[in-house]
Amino acid sequence: MIFYEPGTHKQHGFKHDPFKAFVTPRPIGWIGSIDADGRTNLAPYSFFNAMASNPPQVVFGSGSHADGSKKDSQRNVEDMGEFTVNIVAHALREQMNETSAALPHGDSEFDAAGIEGAPSKLIKPLRVAAAPVAFECVYLRTIELEHWSPPHRNFMVLGKVIGIHVSEDVVVDGLADVTKWSPVSRLGYFDYSTVDNVFEMFRPSSAPGPV
Ligand SMILES: Cc1cc2nc3c(=O)[nH]c(=O)nc-3n(C[C@H](O)[C@H](O)[C@H](O)COP(=O)(O)O)c2cc1C
Repeated sequence: MIFYEPGTHKQHGFKHDPFKAFVTPRPIGWIGSIDADGRTNLAPYSFFNAMASNPPQVVFGSGSHADGSKKDSQRNVEDMGEFTVNIVAHALREQMNETSAALPHGDSEFDAAGIEGAPSKLIKPLRVAAAPVAFECVYLRTIELEHWSPPHRNFMVLGKVIGIHVSEDVVVDGLADVTKWSPVSRLGYFDYSTVDNVFEMFRPSSAPGPV
């Protein structure tokens, strides 16, 4: 076994930091937000996950710009208190990637990447019209994490899901069938994967059935 302390991977033969390759697959939260002037924003975050389901709560992890200033998504979410999370179907992978370009604050990735936005029902930020699933979220709080290289900063942004849009096309017999949209997930390096192999397992102590 190789053992190394974070930051020393090169001394152990790794060309690049493999940490993110170990925590895989990571779902991608494609975050839609809006600023105080009503300008829309859309960007992917793969430090993203659901942290609870009753009520549903999600988190995305945002780094900062090199000068320590916050990325637009975090800034908008904190300022306006609302965001959408759009689930990235395989068919949307290229558009999702395009929206990771660093545009000046206020320039819309919806427009730059030619992505059709759709209105949310309970909040102002747009959702991605073609996303098979989209959440409407309200901001809960931010937790600042450590960073090795100040003034760079790292944050966790937490939100609560208050509305869910689901395409009828992905519902089969009353269940959401992920193979209908093949969610894109992030691996390490420049690698991605999709869900194309689903199997069932039941917990020893519970009766069979979805939880
Ligand atoms: C698939 C993918 C996942 C990403 N995940 C993150 C992430 O978890 N945290 C982060 O800070 N940046 C992440 N990025 C980079 C941001 O999307 C990028 O910095 C973007 O310009 C931020 O946009 P914003 O300033 O409009 O929020 C990711 C990029 C891609 C393509």
